[in-house]
Amino acid sequence: MSSRPTRVLFVCLGNICRSPAAEGVFLDLLAKEELSHAFEVDSAGTGSWHVGQRADSRMRAAAQRRGIELHSRARQILPEDLQSFDWIITMDDSNLQNVRALDPSGVSHERIVPLTGHCSRHSNEEVPDPYYGGDQGFEQVLDLLEDACEGLLMRLR
Ligand code: 4NP
Repeated sequence: MSSRPTRVLFVCLGNICRSPAAEGVFLDLLAKEELSHAFEVDSAGTGSWHVGQRADSRMRAAAQRRGIELHSRARQILPEDLQSFDWIITMDDSNLQNVRALDPSGVSHERIVPLTGHCSRHSNEEVPDPYYGGDQGFEQVLDLLEDACEGLLMRLR
């Protein structure tokens, strides 16, 4: 029997589009599966430009259309996060490299993994950054996140 919740941290660049959405999608799945008690979920960015901000309004609106509220405030990932979270889940290759660089010893590297590795319906190797694109990009990111988060939960539950 597991004695403590599994801690999952989703990471992107700005922590205002992809990783807050991944956090919201995963939390929504946990609630539907009555597994909220078994996990602690957070998100962070490798960059600091948007620290303190709510998720991008376009991403909040797209998530809300699917019944998902995004409540996070952006923060920058800290080296300590690699110890305090069980799984650090990255959105793209750049995030993966930047997070792994926070642990030069490499002891945490097997717990730092790309989210797209858990997809079953999409073949993308990265979650594309929707920040500079149109509304359709936010929908595509959410489709991808829903697929990947279902796979992630199957793996971790
Ligand atoms: P995110 O998207 O990494 O999915 O939060 C971005 C948000 C902001 C910027 C880049 C990516 N930016 O350059 O400000």
